[in-house]
Amino acid sequence: MEEKLLQAALAAREKAYAPYSHFQVGAAVLVGDGKLYTGCNVENASYGLTCCAERNAIFNAVGAGNHQLEALCVVGDTAEPISPCGACRQVMAEFKIPVIYLANVQGRVKKLTLAELLPYSFTLEE
Ligand code: THU
Repeated sequence: MEEKLLQAALAAREKAYAPYSHFQVGAAVLVGDGKLYTGCNVENASYGLTCCAERNAIFNAVGAGNHQLEALCVVGDTAEPISPCGACRQVMAEFKIPVIYLANVQGRVKKLTLAELLPYSFTLEE
């Protein structure tokens, strides 16, 4: 499943809209019934409105009616596996995604838990 997620994230990355940073990112989310939802970064002339690939993938999955998200893979052209921004980590925490694969386009993958990525997070229970 790790390979399927990575391939889906790589394919999503090709769709990135990044005319300002020229930094393309793709993400894929695996949901309970085995389906995959993807997203890419979408930038804006008003830079702050940019939305990262991870959040777009999560919102696609949730918008299709899924609340149980099993795993997420994010990929970028970085020397080491890409590191998600804080906002995306907080959105991953909202849906308690247990397994997160960080990858680069060379296929280097780092597997982390949500607690490793965002310890002591603010959640629904609070
Ligand atoms: N970006 C992502 O989509 N995900 C990340 O994990 C890091 C950053 C995007 C946002 C922006 O479009 C570009 O990469 C440069 O920051």
